Amino acid sequence: MIRSLLHVGMTVPELETGRAFYELFGLEHRAVGNDLVFRCAGRAQDQLRLIEGSRKKLSYVSLGTNEAGMPVLLANLEKEGVRIAGNPFGDLPGLWFQDPHGDWINVQVAEPAPSLVAVGNEVNSPGNYRRIGTRACNIDSLAKRARPRRLGHLIKFTPDVNRSVDFYTRVLGMKVTDRAHDILAFLRGSAGGDHHMLAFAKSTHTGLHHLSFEVGDFDEIELGAHTLIQAGYKDAFGPGRHVGGSNYFHYIRDPWNSLAEYFWDIDIIPEDDSGWEPLDVPPEQLTAVWPTTPPPPEFPMNFEAP
Ligand SMILES: [Fe+2]
Repeated sequence: MIRSLLHVGMTVPELETGRAFYELFGLEHRAVGNDLVFRCAGRAQDQLRLIEGSRKKLSYVSLGTNEAGMPVLLANLEKEGVRIAGNPFGDLPGLWFQDPHGDWINVQVAEPAPSLVAVGNEVNSPGNYRRIGTRACNIDSLAKRARPRRLGHLIKFTPDVNRSVDFYTRVLGMKVTDRAHDILAFLRGSAGGDHHMLAFAKSTHTGLHHLSFEVGDFDEIELGAHTLIQAGYKDAFGPGRHVGGSNYFHYIRDPWNSLAEYFWDIDIIPEDDSGWEPLDVPPEQLTAVWPTTPPPPEFPMNFEAP
């Protein structure tokens, strides 16, 4: 049923503070009513909507299904006793309901928009040299900047990882890719794709751990992180490479102490799961491949007020 991540809605105390951060992060913004909506350059799909309010809070997650998935989802929600609500955040189309911990979910019949940005260079690996006679870097590379292509995933905090996983798999049709017992669980869409579009991390209460945007290569991860750090934003974790998802990463603290991640080279899983063997290991075994980049103590903390 749930096949894609469309966008995320977040309430923040100052829209201008959010505009400055996410614009420097590499997103494009426009005003929609009283809100600020961000997109990736070259892609006609909203990715982040900032709503002005009294305090920072992850407001909702908008997910995509297809025509066949919507009636199945509706039947599952009815069977589960989940109430279908009016739109609590304006005039967005689709279905609105709350998960077991009160977090709002919006589901629309929609496919993710394609990126019109040119694909980056091929990668040369030992024995598999696919870039022949073409430079990966030239003097133009000196002006390179992070160019997010899409919102790939988010991690939400939950007071009960098992309960969240049960609801999002059994009722919404998502699948568990890897997990760390009842501390962390990575979920992908029903049709496969990215290793995770949504993950749950244990906390005392709900909230946003991080939003993660795919960039074109490893250079863009580090150029983006450097740009934000030079501007005074807080370096949070990276560069490194996760075990859960295999993606290279760098995290920067947003102005409200949630994390914004650049990622590249994530694992992709086929719809029929063939060849994929889920891990269930301690969280530190999923976090970082490189021993040079252990996560700082505050990395798993929930800074969103309950
Ligand atoms: Fe991530």
